Amino acid sequence: MKTALITGANKSIGFETARILAGHGYFVYIGCRDLAKGQQAVEQLKADGLTTLEALQIDVTDKASIEAAQQYVEQNNGKLDVLVNNAGISGSLPQSAETFEVSAIREVYDTNFFGVIEVTQAFLPLLKKAEAGVIANVTSGLGSLTLHSDPSWPYYPYKTAAYGTSKSALNAYTIVLAYELRDTPIRVNAIDPGYTATDFNNHQGPLKVEDSAAFVAKYAVIGADGPTGKFFSHDAQTENNECPW
Ligand SMILES: NC(=O)c1ccc[n+]([C@@H]2O[C@H](COP(=O)([O-])OP(=O)(O)OC[C@H]3O[C@@H](n4cnc5c(N)ncnc54)[C@H](OP(=O)(O)O)[C@@H]3O)[C@@H](O)[C@H]2O)c1
Repeated sequence: MKTALITGANKSIGFETARILAGHGYFVYIGCRDLAKGQQAVEQLKADGLTTLEALQIDVTDKASIEAAQQYVEQNNGKLDVLVNNAGISGSLPQSAETFEVSAIREVYDTNFFGVIEVTQAFLPLLKKAEAGVIANVTSGLGSLTLHSDPSWPYYPYKTAAYGTSKSALNAYTIVLAYELRDTPIRVNAIDPGYTATDFNNHQGPLKVEDSAAFVAKYAVIGADGPTGKFFSHDAQTENNECPW
């Protein structure tokens, strides 16, 4: 059975992505920084008829919790087929480049950038043991430097010194990692679920969480013949949803 780990899966986009992968027959670890919330999420999905789920405590800013989670998966599964780096925070708004405190910017980067790197590095040995590992880094259109330079882009004024830049950095890391893994079956992509109604934005986003999760899940279940080193956005108007970096 294929095994997946989704960070920040106790609610919202991560939770609905877990539902889809479990429905596809994956064994899904619901990554959660608060185990009680993760267990509640598992109970909810099991009440909906899904069975192959387990809560796994993992705070992406806490190295000890990442290592403990990695050891648990290694002992129980010996490999990991899919890693969805979904956990993310926005930080408080507004985020002026002139005045937003560096400590607040660091906090956002600790989760959205360094957290992803630390989780990825910890789980890569297990992804290499899978037949064709997949890494889906959940990013944002707000991380696109090209779109942010285009005044006609609808989100052009949505400039954030911490959140958007942390996703730009995540995108850059995705490119570097995909390049390093180019001769392996592992696929690495940056996936933007689109502006989605979740707690993240006080449910302001126009997209439904189920639809955005389906977009993320689509790139989590690709095989060794799937794309790698790409940036796909649910909001992109292109034919294959490819988004400019
Ligand atoms: N919603 C949108 O419009 C949108 C658009 C583009 C991209 N995204 C990206 O999509 C991803 C999910 O967003 P969402 O809308 O589902 O957000 P959300 O409703 O705020 O959920 C975020 C999840 O991440 C978890 N989390 C936060 N910090 C964590 C940490 N240090 N360690 C482990 N888990 C942590 C949260 O756990 P707790 O429940 O414990 O807080 C929660 O489970 C994020 O990466 C976000 O940047 C969202």
